[in-house]
Amino acid sequence: MSSTDVAASATKKENLNEFDQHYFTSYDHYGIHEEMLQDTVRTMSYKNAIMQNKDFFKDKIVLDVGCGTGILSMFAAQAGAKHVIGVDMSSIIEMAQKVIDANGFSDKITLLRGKLEDVVLPYDKVDIIVSEWMGYFLLYESMLDTVLYARDRYLVEGGLIFPDKCSIHVAGLEDSEYKQEKLNYWENVYGFDYSCFIPLIKQEPLVDTVNATAVNTTRSQLIEFDLNTVQVKDLAFESKFEVQAKRQDVINGLVSWFDIEFPVSKKGTKPVVFSTGAHAGYTHWKQTVFYFDNDLEAEVGDVLKGTLICAPDKRNNRDMDVSIKYDFVPKGPGADQRAVSGEARFLMH
Ligand SMILES: C[S@@+](CC[C@H](N)C(=O)[O-])C[C@H]1O[C@@H](n2cnc3c(N)ncnc32)[C@H](O)[C@@H]1O
Repeated sequence: MSSTDVAASATKKENLNEFDQHYFTSYDHYGIHEEMLQDTVRTMSYKNAIMQNKDFFKDKIVLDVGCGTGILSMFAAQAGAKHVIGVDMSSIIEMAQKVIDANGFSDKITLLRGKLEDVVLPYDKVDIIVSEWMGYFLLYESMLDTVLYARDRYLVEGGLIFPDKCSIHVAGLEDSEYKQEKLNYWENVYGFDYSCFIPLIKQEPLVDTVNATAVNTTRSQLIEFDLNTVQVKDLAFESKFEVQAKRQDVINGLVSWFDIEFPVSKKGTKPVVFSTGAHAGYTHWKQTVFYFDNDLEAEVGDVLKGTLICAPDKRNNRDMDVSIKYDFVPKGPGADQRAVSGEARFLMH
């Protein structure tokens, strides 16, 4: 099979809604791809997972959902795939074609431009799906929906998805100085009162790197998804959490992160995993922080528990609505005065 002309798209951008147009345009520029490629935890995890499972890939038909610059397609081809199909809606696919040609993969990798949901693949079924679909707080961007569509439409019975397991976690954090800086700034901007911005700032989760020492409670897993079986409806979820203070400290809110796991070909082999938590190496996903209105005064062993509800936003399903109901349950002297219950609502966009 020879390289295709990626100038023609199966999807007309003008026909997409404004949110999807904006979403795919954000992946047109090389800058975002540079950031992803240079995220070595991310990219090397994919490379290792694919290379350590060459016996899975050998002579297989592989679909790369959202191929971007083509990096995962080339890993799959290097691992011995019979043929790789890379699909992307963004114009970056034109550069991917040049990369693939320059690296001698033109006969092994076919690129198709358009939404995965609209393109016609040259194969009825594929053996393996590779995709890097994860957004902030795992689900932001809702690209997992597309991977699940690809699974249901194209993956052979017993086919593999790289990666295939993921989980979201939370813990309490002390971040008073940064929280105050972020909010106080708007009280006096060049001598003007900009405080009308404060409610907006409060409702947006903060995506930033959190120092591991700022995490001051135990952790709690909110949810785990198995990509082999999960359904789109399961991606809107309600989960309980419970963490315990590890030291006498203020808890300003919750820090969240996700962990990723790839399949293994041989029983007893350790799967390739990576974490985007504060305890692990830097990734471009950083961590997502949900500040509470209340600052909780914790003693060792005090419990913070509650429920987190997460769903795609009704107006723009690539945005996410998150609401957190929490009860802080202190023990010991002054417990009654320190007990707090609250609710915080966030929009990730
Ligand atoms: C997070 S990037 C990953 C790029 C590349 N796989 C990598 O690992 O560097 C996701 C890519 O998927 C593409 N994408 C997202 N949803 C898509 C869809 N429904 N159809 C086609 N491409 C899609 C985006 O345009 C973007 O280039």
